[in-house]
Amino acid sequence: MEDVSKATSEFAESVAIVTAKRGDKVNAMTAAWTVPVSHRPALVVVHIAPQRFTHDMIVESKEFGLSILADDQVDLSQHAGTLSGRKLDKFASGILKSKQSKVIEAPVLEGCAATMECKLEKAISMGDHTIFVGRVVALEKDPDKKPLILHRGVYYKLGETVGRYY
Ligand SMILES: Cc1cc2nc3c(=O)[nH]c(=O)nc-3n(C[C@H](O)[C@H](O)[C@H](O)COP(=O)(O)O)c2cc1C
Repeated sequence: MEDVSKATSEFAESVAIVTAKRGDKVNAMTAAWTVPVSHRPALVVVHIAPQRFTHDMIVESKEFGLSILADDQVDLSQHAGTLSGRKLDKFASGILKSKQSKVIEAPVLEGCAATMECKLEKAISMGDHTIFVGRVVALEKDPDKKPLILHRGVYYKLGETVGRYY
């Protein structure tokens, strides 16, 4: 079969930063493969490859933060998504600004379109990623911010309205 990414690159994705804390160590990584799965209970999933440093931090701490980036936060996506917390502290440069969470130990990020604090409900190994199902225990949304969009490896701001669902 042909490389499936030829088709999956047509998904327009929002971009989130997944945060995790294990002991004193805090880390953040970029994830575009995130989706809501249930309203009640409030569940979201994030797909993380096992080789990411963040992966085992979530397995062990059983929680994670999810910060949906705003369209003025491309630099955060590139920073958290191209470096590994195994080798450096991604918060040291000041590009990522952490904010104390209300419920979980891991922080969320400042300046985002929305943040969610998640308790790990289930981890399902699936192909070359793990599906982490998180129960949302706290959230915040900034109505003035619009999400950053990723399509075919390029970042976008939302464009013109062409119709309405609700
Ligand atoms: C725009 C973008 C989207 C990404 N989406 C994902 C994703 O959904 N799942 C994943 O496992 N890695 C994804 N990555 C790669 C990780 O963010 C990257 O490997 C990161 O350096 C892992 O950091 P860590 O080793 O500190 O956990 C993405 C990277 C970028 C730049």
